[in-house]
Amino acid sequence: MRRPMVAGNWKMHGTRASVVELTQGLGNLSLPSGVEVAVFPPSLFINQVIDGLEGKGISVGAQNSAVLPEQGALTGEVAPSQLAEVGCKYVLVGHSERRQVIGESDEVLNQKFAAAQQSGLTPVLCIGETLAEREAGETLEVVGRQLSSVIDVFGIKAFANAVIAYEPVWAIGTGLTASPQQAQDVHAAIRKQLAAKDAEVAEGVQLLYGGSVKAANAAELFGMPDIDGGLIGGASLNADEFGAICRAAGN
Ligand code: PGA
Repeated sequence: MRRPMVAGNWKMHGTRASVVELTQGLGNLSLPSGVEVAVFPPSLFINQVIDGLEGKGISVGAQNSAVLPEQGALTGEVAPSQLAEVGCKYVLVGHSERRQVIGESDEVLNQKFAAAQQSGLTPVLCIGETLAEREAGETLEVVGRQLSSVIDVFGIKAFANAVIAYEPVWAIGTGLTASPQQAQDVHAAIRKQLAAKDAEVAEGVQLLYGGSVKAANAAELFGMPDIDGGLIGGASLNADEFGAICRAAGN
């Protein structure tokens, strides 16, 4: 059985004070024991959040990491080995905001994916189509291509230690959510693509849905057979709302 997972992507939000408040709020939640819960603060606050959540059963991840695994001369970047050393477990790779706003290519993302795994982090590979691609009927092709770009280079076994987040770009931060069936259809296609290479890996990998998930729609989404949890943006900035989403994943 796959363990459900709920991940909170704080993006570029937070001040020292608001991070203290949010961390305390998360620490006070009663979380379902069977759910893997993780938060992804801005890198500036990672240490603070790791300290604040000690013993609370919530993992911490980074939103980005360098293309090289080890520390060295690479101005402005944070090495995945440094993230692992301070206690991070995960790193997001290929969030659409980084693909689109920062212009990260599949090639760069592959380097980040590999460096993360080499450093002992679990990459959370984010994939998803734009509205124009969905309207053109290209969703499965786009998502399949983003997935293939990793499989073709590193092989299917790379997904024995990775999480995949399907996030339709048109649903991120827009209040528009894919319907549970729309999301399930893509998740099933992703799992099928993986299964064509290795059934065991496909069966074990956690597939998260992201895009305007909130407490009010989480249960319905997480009830679909191939949706193993969520990657939550806006709603993860409120501890009570995030806690309710985690509980939805536990039911
Ligand atoms: P959202 O963001 O929940 O605010 O739509 C999700 C994400 O970008 O990971």
